[in-house]
Amino acid sequence: MSIAFNDLNAQYLALKSQIDSNVLKAMASGSYIMGPEVRELEQKLCDYTGAKHCISCSNGTDALLMPLMAWGVGAGDAVFVPAFTFISTSEVVAQAGATPVFCDVDKRSFNLDPESLRSAIKKVQAEGRLYPRAVIAVDLFGLPFDYEAINAICTEFGLLLIEDGAQGFGGEINGRKACTFGDVSTTSFFPAKPLGCYGDGGAIFTDDEGLKRKLLSIRVHGKQDDENDPNAKYHNVRVGLNARLDTLQAAILLPKLEAFDTENAARRKAASLYSKLLAETELITPLTPQGYASSWAQYTLIAKDTEQREHIISALKVEGIPAMIYYPKPLHLQPTNSGYGYKEGSLPVSEDLCRRVFSLPMHGYITEEIVERVAGHVVRAVESFFNS
Ligand SMILES: Cc1ncc(COP(=O)(O)O)c(C=O)c1O
Repeated sequence: MSIAFNDLNAQYLALKSQIDSNVLKAMASGSYIMGPEVRELEQKLCDYTGAKHCISCSNGTDALLMPLMAWGVGAGDAVFVPAFTFISTSEVVAQAGATPVFCDVDKRSFNLDPESLRSAIKKVQAEGRLYPRAVIAVDLFGLPFDYEAINAICTEFGLLLIEDGAQGFGGEINGRKACTFGDVSTTSFFPAKPLGCYGDGGAIFTDDEGLKRKLLSIRVHGKQDDENDPNAKYHNVRVGLNARLDTLQAAILLPKLEAFDTENAARRKAASLYSKLLAETELITPLTPQGYASSWAQYTLIAKDTEQREHIISALKVEGIPAMIYYPKPLHLQPTNSGYGYKEGSLPVSEDLCRRVFSLPMHGYITEEIVERVAGHVVRAVESFFNS
């Protein structure tokens, strides 16, 4: 029997009655754009994370772009981003007209390395060509970034901090929830994310009232800032986007948010079982620093080298077990970023991880039996690699 990498169907079956009735209600209401479900979801996301304001939006990429637009980040500005992440993290910087400056990541947490960030900022300062403006730190695979160290650097150099929590929703540091660690924080509701909808969706979190107002304007074509004016979108005061979250997606997300903690607990249990069962192999299992909790968007291992990784992935495939590589190429070596002057060897940790990481099936409905089966095949694959 084949195993799902992320069993969205099991989730749908578990939540079917609430999801179906919410969708039907939204369809019957006729309020397809900015219906009451959107505001209800925003309030519940504030309650969940502890953020003061939540602005839902079209996807996790626009969620990153919108604060850059609101702050006027653009030509001549440097925005520091990790090289080991999904392309959106740097793509939005280029979309805003600014320059992404790539930094290396920590080899155990996979997240932005404070020392690499510090030296990248100093280099930009010394060159004097770009103005250091902001940092986008990612909660990769669900683990919050090193908030204390990165925030201290942002304060020292006067940089704005964006938390890219596309994968991080549900993570924590000492009881404080992810999506509250930046001047602005974002998440994605892409279906495969810890909290996912059935299409595209995203959200922005901030405690800054002035920024919230600008984001609301940018979300609807740069509309005039007047919540009580139904015609505000015909008075356009800035360049904006069409970046609303659909009512239907909000209706789907509401019951999923109710179930989120139970699913999160199941992912955490599965992750610790994987780590226990794989402890005796020579694979490097994921690190969760003291006081941190991951939402386990991915459970990611580090193999000895590419050859061992390929051997394990092929052996799992024969057993009907999917494994994925997040990510096969670091951002600074992506063709779209070739104009920024990086080369192989520029950011060695990110490059090395791209050659060695792979992720195992993980979701909120995974059973102990499945984890044991997957881990058993990984153990056997590692043994057969060493004996081959
Ligand atoms: C780290 C990270 N940032 C941003 C995004 C963008 O989210 P979306 O696909 O909703 O635009 C993703 C999605 O994969 C992501 O993993």
